Amino acid sequence: MASDSYDVIVIGSGPGGYVCAIRAAQLGMTVACVEKRETLGGTCLNIGCIPSKALLAASEKYEEADKHLDKMGIKVSGLKLDLKGMMAHKDSVVDANTQGIEFLFKKNKVDWLKGTGVITAKDTVEVDGKSYKAKHIIIATGSDVVGLPSIEIDEKKIVSSEGALELSKVPKDMVVIGGGVIGLELGSVWQRLGANVTVVEFADAILPAMDKEIAKETQKVMKRQGLKFKLSTKVTSAKTTAKGVDLTIEGAAGGNEEKMSADVVLVCVGRKAYTESLGLDKVGVKTDDRGRVMTGDGFKTNVDGIYAIGDVIAGPMLAHKAEDEGVVLAEMLAGQTGHIDYNLIPGVVYTWPEVAEVGQTEEALKKEGIKYKVGKFPFMANGRARAMNATDGFVKILADARTDKVLGCHILGADAGTLIAEVAGMMEFGTSSEDIARTCHAHPTLSEVVKEAALAVDGRALHI
Ligand code: FAD
Ligand code: NAI
Repeated sequence: MASDSYDVIVIGSGPGGYVCAIRAAQLGMTVACVEKRETLGGTCLNIGCIPSKALLAASEKYEEADKHLDKMGIKVSGLKLDLKGMMAHKDSVVDANTQGIEFLFKKNKVDWLKGTGVITAKDTVEVDGKSYKAKHIIIATGSDVVGLPSIEIDEKKIVSSEGALELSKVPKDMVVIGGGVIGLELGSVWQRLGANVTVVEFADAILPAMDKEIAKETQKVMKRQGLKFKLSTKVTSAKTTAKGVDLTIEGAAGGNEEKMSADVVLVCVGRKAYTESLGLDKVGVKTDDRGRVMTGDGFKTNVDGIYAIGDVIAGPMLAHKAEDEGVVLAEMLAGQTGHIDYNLIPGVVYTWPEVAEVGQTEEALKKEGIKYKVGKFPFMANGRARAMNATDGFVKILADARTDKVLGCHILGADAGTLIAEVAGMMEFGTSSEDIARTCHAHPTLSEVVKEAALAVDGRALHI
């Protein structure tokens, strides 16, 4: 039974909000979480990380059966795509996860206040007309799709990531606007299922924020898989027709106009902080020039008692960043201390093979004038990778030239998202490349590629 006064009211039940609510409840606070969706879990569980990974996993298996298993002596005949069945798999994964949060809320005695939360005073949240008092209000309202001027997203022919997770048939031709994380992940899904996918990217490289060498190699590998890329190119118009969508593209700097057509266009040029109808103006919570809630130490906004975490504030828009902020904030409210090293938040792109990074890129180190050594090792030279038929990519470790402290690690390769965890963990403890190189890594595993890259920093890789 919902009370009308709490220690903590969290607005938004994404990975930032729900984790914060559970941790605060574990620490003895009375907690409510306001969520306007029909299900808990926010963007991540409903329309983001989880459904996209369900489709990535399923489409990866389909492509493997279609194109790769024969190389291992497995003949597949009668292979058929059941798109409805694949979507049902995705939906059941989403349901299990969102219901899981509902169970965790009940277990931890977190009240779910269903509806839209509006902050009406520094200690009051109104949910669909009813007021609730709170000692602490936490804004965890996440983010929303960024559109493009004059391109109308109808979620049928011109879709955002949300519509791209729900297509009822495989498009023959698909244009993806934006070669970032969503473009490569969801572009891969539909390419594997049979679409002819062209990625149009404004910058001169895909994944422009990642290590340039890794991004270049990723593009090469994905091109081999069948994706097409138009870099340094922008879409100037996209209009739906009876058949599909007609597009006009031109060079990023203007000129070289070209026409394209597609059955479906996916717009994925970034996400923006979501604070609609939250009442920030009324209580005077400040936002920055990109609409993000401004926070200082301890995730405090400029209004006493109001805090913010996750995609709605500055920093990478990642579920694990939001979660960590949720935990740290709850612990701080309970009088404990906590910290997040924002340099050590790993980033993973769940393509095949995966791309993963932690710490600084070569480009950033050069810009800062930091002298560094590089150790690289290819998956091609690893026994387990050969056994798995997963030899694309490499591990690159960047270490301080003077102290050998690891400053960054960048991986393109099978299971890169899991492999990066070792390096991120060791970097939390200030590892040197020598520490990684002298740590015993089980054989035969892909993790030996990380060890060999660490040995390569000092020019002593063994298996190349
Ligand atoms: P959100 O998850 O956005 O949750 C905010 C919630 O607040 C929403 O449920 C919203 O309905 C609710 N809300 C907003 N305003 C109100 C209000 N006034 N009242 C009540 N409720 C409100 N990140 C990763 O780390 N790994 C991935 O693999 C990954 N894949 C992604 C794939 C896609 C297609 C997308 C779109 C995103 C992906 N992300 C991924 C990013 C990730 O989803 C976000 O970083 C994460 O969800 C942010 O969490 P959050 O708690 O800040 O906000
Ligand atoms: P993104 O920022 O990753 O990529 C957007 C891309 O679009 C960039 O490469 C940018 O240069 C390009 N672009 C911008 N304007 C353009 C234009 N007019 N024409 C062509 N290209 C243009 O954003 P994306 O892919 O939309 O993802 C949004 C957020 O969701 C990301 O910040 C990411 O953190 C999160 N996400 C994370 C995932 C993961 O961790 N695996 C998966 C999916 C999303």
